[in-house]
Amino acid sequence: MYKKIRETAEWLQQRMPNAPTIAIVLGSGLGELAKRIERLKTFPYKEIPNFPVSTVEGHAGELIFGKLGGVDVLAMEGRFHYYEGWTMQEVTFPIRVMYELGIKTLFVSNAAGGTNPNFQIGDLMIITDHINYMPENPLRGPNVPTGPRFPDMGEAYSKELIAKADAIAAKHGIKVQHGVYLATQGPTYETPAEYRMFARWGADAVGMSTVPEVIVAHHCGIKVFGMSIITDLGGMDIPMEITHEQVLRAAEAAQPNMALLIEEMVKI
Ligand code: HPA
Repeated sequence: MYKKIRETAEWLQQRMPNAPTIAIVLGSGLGELAKRIERLKTFPYKEIPNFPVSTVEGHAGELIFGKLGGVDVLAMEGRFHYYEGWTMQEVTFPIRVMYELGIKTLFVSNAAGGTNPNFQIGDLMIITDHINYMPENPLRGPNVPTGPRFPDMGEAYSKELIAKADAIAAKHGIKVQHGVYLATQGPTYETPAEYRMFARWGADAVGMSTVPEVIVAHHCGIKVFGMSIITDLGGMDIPMEITHEQVLRAAEAAQPNMALLIEEMVKI
């Protein structure tokens, strides 16, 4: 695996137009931020050696080197989900490559279902912590020497970045929630009983991504900031049906604030 990571990193290093230290992983329907990036060079995943190619509707599948608000950034438009059948090593491969490219800070975004009764559809939630309810940990296997065998997870999401996000949100009058993100393997959404269970466990939102990437980034010493768009609500004994289209629509509506927040954050 490490050989492949190096191969991909070197291929990109020979072609990348800038040397960003900030990377952004854009989740479901979060193309708005991608549009704000001044593109210097874009690589479709299928052109990058060893890169998986994502299959889900709403995920474009491009690696963008560019500038956001004048700051050099590397953005992944489209990520790899465990439910698509990728291994955890494949899901987190781009993060390992990012580390090799010199990324120091990672911004991750996703669409998630709210289990906190105080949340509303369209809310933005700053991820303060996570519960890894996926069936596997991406660090399983021989330890990659970017970090210790048994990594501390006390601050997987940088408190400093959360404080900065809060200040920016307050300045721009953007309402933000804080909460714990629980990751399932998907692809099923939750049953009402599962939503209730996750809420009792301390989850505020549930989704099918992000946690593997965050674990690997943290293991590489990359600082992480994560944000969810609450696209649907469960666990309140309200029978409701969720569709992927509804999730994309709700994410779409909340995008401008999320994009503004992240754009402001990369500047500091
Ligand atoms: N559950 C899991 N994943 C999701 C949800 C949800 O309710 N909404 C968007 N992604």
